[in-house]
Amino acid sequence: MLTTQLVEKKQKIVVAYSGGLDTSVMIRWLKDKYHAEIITVTGNLGQAKELAGLKEKAYKTGAWKFYIKDVKREFVREYIFPALKASALYEKAYPLATALGRPLLAKLLVEVARREKATMVAHGCTGKGNDQVRFEVSIAALAPDLKVLAPLREWEFKSREEEIDYAKRHRIPVKATVESPYSIDENIWGTSIECGILEDPTVEPPTDVFQHTVAPEQAPHKPEYVTISFEKGIPVGLNGKKLDAVQLIHKLNDIGGAHGVGRIDLVENRLVGIKSREIYEAPAATILHFAHTELERLTLDKQVFNFKSLIAQEYANLVYNGLWYSPLKNALDAFVEETQRTVTGTVKMKLYKGAMTVVARTSPYSLYSAKLATYREEDQFDHKASSGFIKIFGLPLKTFRQVQKNGLTRKKRPHSKIHS
Ligand code: ARG
Repeated sequence: MLTTQLVEKKQKIVVAYSGGLDTSVMIRWLKDKYHAEIITVTGNLGQAKELAGLKEKAYKTGAWKFYIKDVKREFVREYIFPALKASALYEKAYPLATALGRPLLAKLLVEVARREKATMVAHGCTGKGNDQVRFEVSIAALAPDLKVLAPLREWEFKSREEEIDYAKRHRIPVKATVESPYSIDENIWGTSIECGILEDPTVEPPTDVFQHTVAPEQAPHKPEYVTISFEKGIPVGLNGKKLDAVQLIHKLNDIGGAHGVGRIDLVENRLVGIKSREIYEAPAATILHFAHTELERLTLDKQVFNFKSLIAQEYANLVYNGLWYSPLKNALDAFVEETQRTVTGTVKMKLYKGAMTVVARTSPYSLYSAKLATYREEDQFDHKASSGFIKIFGLPLKTFRQVQKNGLTRKKRPHSKIHS
């Protein structure tokens, strides 16, 4: 006689995995709570952190399957460069390294969830940061049916020590080395560092905060020149040589870092309503944003240049707030793309002890006309035309003053010394 045995099919949860304490503990915790198979996913966004050995670690921790994908190229082309072209700096300062990485990681999670027919995805973000919003809004936009779990928002552990204790009890491998007092997120576009003493905005960051840049006062006594070539708003070469995008960014991180360029100390407004203090190291992003804008000064029409700065702010807000996969983002991209048709040329910069200055710029689309700008004999500017222009340009103010003089607007102040 045949006995049919009901084999319960386990659910599958896709977990964004870094190999750190939180995501390691998460594997086991989710497995127990949901009685599920855990599939870990790691994206290589160009972080300096060693990714070798991660697979073994994930399996030892209890993962059922492990995925790792090198998405550096996609990150640079599809996320970093559009933001660079848009001149997106959050609150005029932060090049958005962490914020740009999240939508790509979310996409990766969704891809794996689809392939594995998983119904849930989980991330290791805390309940008071921006990253939880970025992950969850991105996943909602890409795969509205997927359920998102955020164990850090609901689990019982009150401290790192309690997590370590849990890890030990469950034989989860955790690093024996002393943990950094900082929370660090890192990719090719920059490093974000917070927590520890940095939470006090009155304190200068101690030297051990910085991983990739030297202090300006330790930088070489000789300046270094770098020339960056752009094509349609995208950096394509360094010092006259064509360079692959990923290599170019790595190289500029090294050069800039060696000169103490790209350190940012920022009190910023988080989406969840609080101000936080974060230290960023982003030499390549800092240099490229600066150079790109200098080239736009040369090649963009005045109105486009000025209008675009409004778009830049909107674009930065949208990236910061996790709205990468939004219709507004696509519409803004279309605008930006149109402006970049002439942003081709070179910008030469001087790096010296933490500072960066532009020294030369060239472009086949340069709108700078020497004949119009010069004060020498070759001058072709029609000086006489200015008088008519000024007459009409100043007409509204002239009219305003005449009307005001007749006492039709504001009354004189009682103690005014001006007599008419
Ligand atoms: N404040 C940055 C942002 O919201 C970085 C967040 C992650 N920072 C960190 N140190 N883990 O994009």
